Amino acid sequence: MDWGLKNRLSRIIRPETGRTVMLAVDHGYFLGPTSGLEVPGETIKPLLSYADSLMLTRGVLRTSVPAEFNIPIVLRVSGGTSILHDDLSNEDITTSMEEAIRLNVSAVALSIFVGSAHEKETLTNLSKLVTQGVGYGIPVLAVTAVGREMTRDAKYLSLCCRIAAELGAHFIKTYYCENFEKVVETCPVPIVIAGGKKTPEKDALALAHNAISHGAVGVDMGRNIFQSDNPVGMIQAVRAIVHKNATVEEAYGLYEKAK
Ligand code: R5P
Repeated sequence: MDWGLKNRLSRIIRPETGRTVMLAVDHGYFLGPTSGLEVPGETIKPLLSYADSLMLTRGVLRTSVPAEFNIPIVLRVSGGTSILHDDLSNEDITTSMEEAIRLNVSAVALSIFVGSAHEKETLTNLSKLVTQGVGYGIPVLAVTAVGREMTRDAKYLSLCCRIAAELGAHFIKTYYCENFEKVVETCPVPIVIAGGKKTPEKDALALAHNAISHGAVGVDMGRNIFQSDNPVGMIQAVRAIVHKNATVEEAYGLYEKAK
């Protein structure tokens, strides 16, 4: 792996633990002003010091994150649909690699929609992005998006993750599922998990704990942090699980204490 690419990736997946807590705040790219992210800057500011990286779009980066704050950025560069459409898979690449470099990002992220109407376009977009990323030393995160009608099981998610890795993604974001270790075992690059819809804090911490125990290198979590009644406590609790192997109870204690 090229030195620059490896260096950028190591800013996200921390060499001290081999793990990462990514804070996902990119939801507005198709959901608009998602609950908890109505004014992104206000949500993001108190959490910045606790995240290993921030996943977001160029618009929110430019307007809502102080350029002086030294946090690795994972820039979402796919989009083109909104929640008003049933088929969300019709995405394209929305931001050039040159702009990503000007924004000094550590990685770029793109969703793939395996099994959807636009499977081919999203997969070839991933390939193109990897080719460009490798050319400039920028790692690519593939996000395995799941259509409403699709089952998030190990068979399907292994298929998605393996295809993303075969096309050259440097790391992958997917969902936790039963037999998650099968997804990890058959994927040659690191996997982080999304948090998904807001659930009770202890359940979200259990999800993070299960994912880490079964081979994920970390989380790329959004709603279960920023929609919590105590986002700072929640991200501290997630960090304890990811970087310190805390139990769910220990982590939940941190969340409660921070309240
Ligand atoms: C989708 O909107 C984005 O890729 C999110 O970053 C992803 O779903 C992770 O966020 P959450 O933990 O809220 O699912």
